[in-house]
Amino acid sequence: MICNHRKKLTLRIAAVLGVIFLCGISSGRAAQQGAPQHSRPAATPWWQHALIYEIYPRSFQDSNDDGVGDINGIIQRLDYLQSLKVNAIWLTPIYPSPLVDFGYDISNYEAIDPLYGSMADFDHLIAAARQHHIRVIMDMVMNHTSDQSPWFKESRSSRSNPRRNWYIWRDGKGPGIPPNNWQSAFGHSAWTYDPTTKQWYYHKFYAAQPDLNWRNPEVQKAMFNVCRFWLDKGVAGFRLDAVPELFEDPQFRDEKEIGGSNAFGDPNLDESRTSNLPEVHGVMRALRKLVDSYPGNRVLIGETYLPNIQDQLRWYGTNRDELQLPMDMQVGFINRLDANEFREKMNQAETQLDGNMPLFVFDNHDNPRSWNRYGDGVHDAQIARVIAALLLTPRAVALMYYGQEIGMVTTPPKTKAEVQDPVGKVGWPKYKGRDGERTPMQWDSEKNAGFSTANKTWLPIPASYKTVNVQTESAAPDSLLNWYKRLIALRAENPVMRNGQTVMVDRTNPNVLSYLRTEPKDGPTVLVAINFSAQTQTIDYHLRAHGISGSGVTALLETAGMQRRTDLHHMTLPPFGVFIGTLQ
Ligand code: NOJ
Repeated sequence: MICNHRKKLTLRIAAVLGVIFLCGISSGRAAQQGAPQHSRPAATPWWQHALIYEIYPRSFQDSNDDGVGDINGIIQRLDYLQSLKVNAIWLTPIYPSPLVDFGYDISNYEAIDPLYGSMADFDHLIAAARQHHIRVIMDMVMNHTSDQSPWFKESRSSRSNPRRNWYIWRDGKGPGIPPNNWQSAFGHSAWTYDPTTKQWYYHKFYAAQPDLNWRNPEVQKAMFNVCRFWLDKGVAGFRLDAVPELFEDPQFRDEKEIGGSNAFGDPNLDESRTSNLPEVHGVMRALRKLVDSYPGNRVLIGETYLPNIQDQLRWYGTNRDELQLPMDMQVGFINRLDANEFREKMNQAETQLDGNMPLFVFDNHDNPRSWNRYGDGVHDAQIARVIAALLLTPRAVALMYYGQEIGMVTTPPKTKAEVQDPVGKVGWPKYKGRDGERTPMQWDSEKNAGFSTANKTWLPIPASYKTVNVQTESAAPDSLLNWYKRLIALRAENPVMRNGQTVMVDRTNPNVLSYLRTEPKDGPTVLVAINFSAQTQTIDYHLRAHGISGSGVTALLETAGMQRRTDLHHMTLPPFGVFIGTLQ
């Protein structure tokens, strides 16, 4: 289990981690690419019930033996992704980058970093993925560029450069004193002094990631052109990195200290002047228009760590004209198995988002894996099944992170010298950075877990790979991987598991989370019951108020150890057991 300061830091970094997006008009070819073989009626866009799979390309599959994953490696693994029934893959950034933040510092938005392959490889990926019924979503970092971007190089060259105002430059308060108290999410002041022009530039993240000035219309124009470039290539949309951070207070007022300090030793600030400013919604509406001008239901996904459901709703747009899928981080990052909290948050997502589709996520490249965040050290394997059920059985788009489906564990570096993630260097030893959740995918029990034939991989292979790997788990009927596959199949095969409302029942039970999936035109109601405790639980359901008069229930899927109860009045769930069944 992670300790408190790490949880807090995780959330703070989370609060600042971004999202994507994009759009465009285009040729018939791009139209086909946006709407692959599985095109559906406009009323049900493909993303509405999608399973999206996040790939951290450095760590998925290495095809050229340099110890770093690449585009051709992803192509080699498309059969696997298809077997998982993934509808789209989101690739974290593969653009040219000095890799200070492993790609989230982009120096050229319209090219591929040679480390990952070529533009021809990328085009091949789009085409090959389409053959596998998989769409490709790009990460789009609009908040900041690399300090090696030609835009920033020009901007910093002189105060009168035409690109000066593309970034946020200010005078300090005095010699060596930054313009205000704003802090970087990666530790310490968010301002760096540039001796050439004797001003400070703002960076929400690393100093090598200067923030773009979104109050300058030329910035929007340039970034939207970038989006068009990729939409024309046929990407299915964008994951918008750190998108709530686009705007800052135009008066540059200090933020309020809210007490305590973070893992970097900085005071905690309320972030009211640098995050989630209302101006961002105008940009989202414009971006959505751009995306909608392309055929094929291109999608905008937001990296939106938001404090409450009201803010979450705003990101869909008052007229459903902003993001289709702002990530819901409130459910997946509760970080403890508390049935009451899950009931409340999931119910909010169902009832307070104006019918919009929530996007649930438990794992990503910025946070310790759910295995570790939710595990109790004793029942981790069962709890991983609980997490899978929480992700895949409510009415929500599901976002998975590579390795989640086999139970990869967070494996942080052992010494500071091993740390790759810059933020881990700043935060060491309190915060060890994000390497632990970015270790190479575990494909088999051979050398380097089948990830690479290099002598050294960019991050070490976790010791668990001998048993925790795709090959071994594919062959074991009761593996976590097969549990995921069964849940995914259940979603795919039962319309009510896609469309049905999520209705909480047995609402006062502190140990078992129970909900119905119900939609009369889509067949019988389904009951999902999840035991959040390490004790056996027996439940007596009374569902007459929900139109269920009988007490019969037929299992569709359940974890091991169920007593095959078929009576709603005496349902016994083993510790961390999951039951999914059809009601009569
Ligand atoms: C969010 C990304 O997910 C994270 O990895 C990155 O460091 C920050 N945004 C800055 O781009």
